[in-house]
Amino acid sequence: MNIVAKHRLLFNAPHRQVSMNGIMKDSKYYSDPLVFKPERFSADARAYLNPYTYLPFGQGPRNCVGMRFALLQMKIALAKVLSNYRVVPCNKTIKGNLEIDPTSPQSMPKGGVWVKVEAR
Ligand code: HEM
Repeated sequence: MNIVAKHRLLFNAPHRQVSMNGIMKDSKYYSDPLVFKPERFSADARAYLNPYTYLPFGQGPRNCVGMRFALLQMKIALAKVLSNYRVVPCNKTIKGNLEIDPTSPQSMPKGGVWVKVEAR
């Protein structure tokens, strides 16, 4: 099968899109979904978490192949930055609730996240 035929086949295949944001912000699955509660993801709580309601890396046979690498890389970066710098609010830091930019695929807040970074 040549590439054109292959792409046509993929394009014509039934296509379904899952609203990850819709599921992860549904109070049916998470109490106070917009409240920052890191304890939702503690080792104990995760045992009761339905994996199909927590989808930052997708789910199933086509989920993100880079998940472990991405998580490891982020932990290393955070450890490196936080061991050398203090991250503190600045005069541009938004106080109170952040407003999510509806056009951002990553649910980034409108106006960005502003902080001051000080050497330790
Ligand atoms: C925070 C970082 C990342 C996030 C949030 C993320 C998220 C995702 C999501 C949501 C999908 C779609 C899964 C699905 O359709 O069910 C995906 C697919 C994929 N990701 Fe990531 N990803 C990240 C980092 C990475 C990295 C670092 C790599 C490679 C080194 C990577 C490689 C891939 C590949 C190749 C796919 C397609 C898998 C497939 O279709 O079989 N991702 N990712």
